[in-house]
Amino acid sequence: MARHLITSAIPYINGIKHLGNLVGSQLPADLYARYLRGRGHEVMFLCATDEHGTPAELAAAKADKPVAEYCAEMWEVQNKIANGFRLSFDHFGRSSSEQNRKLTQHFAARLEDAGLIREVNETQMYSHADGRFLPDRYIEGTCPNCGFESARGDQCDNCTKQLDPVDLINPRSTVSGSTDLEMRDTKHLYLCQSKMKDQLEAWIDSKTDWPILTTSIAKKWLNDGDGLQDRGITRDLDWGVPVKKGDQDWPGMEGKVFYVWFDAPIEYIACAQEWEDAGKGTDWARWWRTDKGADDVTYTQFMGKDNVPFHTLSFPCTILGSGEPWKLVDYIKSFNYLNYDGGQFSTSRGRGVFMDQALEILPSDYWRWWLLSHAPESSDSEFTWENFQASVNKDLADVLGNFVSRVTKFCRSKFGEEVPAGGAFGTREEALITDLSEKIRAYESHMEAMEVRKSAGALRAIWVAGNEYLQEAAPWSTFKTDPDAAAAQIRLALNLIRLYAVLSAPFIPDASAAMLKSMKTDDDAWPDDAAAALNTLTAGHAFEVPEVLFAKITDDQREEWQSKFSGTRD
Ligand code: 2FM
Ligand code: ZN
Repeated sequence: MARHLITSAIPYINGIKHLGNLVGSQLPADLYARYLRGRGHEVMFLCATDEHGTPAELAAAKADKPVAEYCAEMWEVQNKIANGFRLSFDHFGRSSSEQNRKLTQHFAARLEDAGLIREVNETQMYSHADGRFLPDRYIEGTCPNCGFESARGDQCDNCTKQLDPVDLINPRSTVSGSTDLEMRDTKHLYLCQSKMKDQLEAWIDSKTDWPILTTSIAKKWLNDGDGLQDRGITRDLDWGVPVKKGDQDWPGMEGKVFYVWFDAPIEYIACAQEWEDAGKGTDWARWWRTDKGADDVTYTQFMGKDNVPFHTLSFPCTILGSGEPWKLVDYIKSFNYLNYDGGQFSTSRGRGVFMDQALEILPSDYWRWWLLSHAPESSDSEFTWENFQASVNKDLADVLGNFVSRVTKFCRSKFGEEVPAGGAFGTREEALITDLSEKIRAYESHMEAMEVRKSAGALRAIWVAGNEYLQEAAPWSTFKTDPDAAAAQIRLALNLIRLYAVLSAPFIPDASAAMLKSMKTDDDAWPDDAAAALNTLTAGHAFEVPEVLFAKITDDQREEWQSKFSGTRD
């Protein structure tokens, strides 16, 4: 049994995430966490809301609420939706927590002691129309690197380069659209990432097994232009972690807060402290401090490609620069973008299907299956309603659901609602068991490599193998001439339902639970030995015919949803 720490990129607090956000971090992280738990490993799966910064302030102002109250309410909303999607976090924390405030201030002090922070007098955009400094994403303009005209002040979405708002050409306020911007003097703290460049590069170079998407983005801007740049880690805002050196004031920094991207990844650690403080477990440091037991932890992060620079460079710089024995990430699984029906999902424009809307029309397993089996791994992928309908109807309803329904109903009608005895398995059954053993090993190796689409394909192949067996063995025909042989076939098929439940749980946890329930067993042991696993339910074991596991999506439904989600949400 190994120990695995898993974190998903923490979603911004303002607004509800769309399905593209979900498939880029939380959902594959959940898949992996569920799989590892299923294999008997000890898992700590953490996520939180990312609550600081201008977006939260502005969203709260729009909702006419104090920002702390707005965040508390939105955390409840996001938590409920996460539960709806069965995201199995050990803790869903908040970056505005007391624990994160203290830890962020602690890291700043350590970095200052290590000579990795310098004060910079600079001029910054002040918007007269908005009556405030306009940092980061609330200034848009042309990217000096690639010429993209809608680059944000913190990062260019086109070339992923991290930017400072003052770098933009033709800047404008995205709050008011005003170009009446003025450069004002202000003082900020900078993290001296450039001093850490060699150490960071050596560390990234040592990660030869990382996905190319991850390392290529990291390398790109380790070596872009003048190389890794120092980074401002404070902002002139009200809402955030106040700039302090540990618990001491930081002269000259009064009234300023840490930049949201400085405190957000620190929340991965603070979240474990919140987990302990919430009474969910003990000894958070065992997961995060290599001097307190975390040296045998494998730490995996999941995120969309736009988050890669912060996780490969900025956060490791914080961790390494502190000089303290914090756990560094071992593997970064990053994702491309999921597009929506011929365009992009967009939070700001309300385009696509959002997590709450998805759950209003179908249970989470339908979405989980489609999203994971079409995860944007090697390239961007696209959600279309036609494809969604086809995958659900074929994979979930025709292949898996139909198998469960046929087997249980046939057994009930011929042998009653208990596993029939029958004789020993014949050559066809033995061949199936051998085939399944190989297919299960393939599934495991894809899951271990976090190859999400390949894992889905391998699982589908396991479902298909059972269906083909049933079709060929045809117990309904066998029954007419050899009821005993038919009973053995059905005994195997009922055991297959339990096996499917166990193997499918990381992808479709609700259907998996329904299958186990219908087999009246809570034996969810992983099938290390397929032959033994397929002899688990023995003659006389009671079961019941389950409700329909997956209903087909009709053409009418597809058309209705297609038109319902063709515009933008309010
Ligand atoms: O892109 C996002 O949604 C960010 N809120 C992710 C932050 S991940 C980390 F740094 F904690
Ligand atoms: Zn650019």
